[in-house]
Amino acid sequence: MGLIAPSILSADFAALGQDITAITQAGADWVHVDVMDGSFVPNISIGPMVVKAIRPYSTLPFDVHLMIVHPEQYFAEFAKAGADMISFHWEAVSHIDRAVAMLKELGVKAGITLNPATPVSVLKDILPCLDYVLLMSVNPGFGGQKFIPYTVNKIKELREMALDSNPDLVIQIDGGVDAANIRMLAQAGADCFVAGSAVFRNRAIQENMDLLREQLA
Ligand code: DX5
Ligand code: ZN
Repeated sequence: MGLIAPSILSADFAALGQDITAITQAGADWVHVDVMDGSFVPNISIGPMVVKAIRPYSTLPFDVHLMIVHPEQYFAEFAKAGADMISFHWEAVSHIDRAVAMLKELGVKAGITLNPATPVSVLKDILPCLDYVLLMSVNPGFGGQKFIPYTVNKIKELREMALDSNPDLVIQIDGGVDAANIRMLAQAGADCFVAGSAVFRNRAIQENMDLLREQLA
């Protein structure tokens, strides 16, 4: 499996609808929506009202990555706005099991995101309950940062951990993914690749998507 999830953080915010149509036509698998609150991460992006406004522009799954404190308080609103899958940061939540159960209850796919320095071992017990895990390969907050190399081992470790307990787990990697490293990340065991700058660079969306896709072939 090689799913590409363009991050709209690098899109043209004055023309988000058009850019979502463009990534859909260019062969994206999921639309990755980065939600930042200026507290969990040092940047502010978009909220549920924007998700609702852009939802009609694609039939692809909307994958909402919550980089916010108290994410549980907003699960229902994002689900209602059109999120098909929601991931929250392990570092932002005390009651992980309850939060995962809330997502299931809402009928969205449940994911947990780990910051680069958070070891995958923290997920051991909750792993069977998850649809996906998002491994951050940059410190969250901004697009266009450099890939942190030690996160490759985390992909391998997590894939190994999931072999018995959750063989269908989707491993998503986010941050600094580009045409030069995507194949290596797939070989390490990642299934879904978030890419912001690598998709929107020079606004050559189709060309950039094709370059990424070629590497996964
Ligand atoms: C970072 C976000 C990422 C980001 C990826 O906090 O979670 O989704 O937009 O951007 P690139 O691909 O440019 O590193
Ligand atoms: Zn993200």
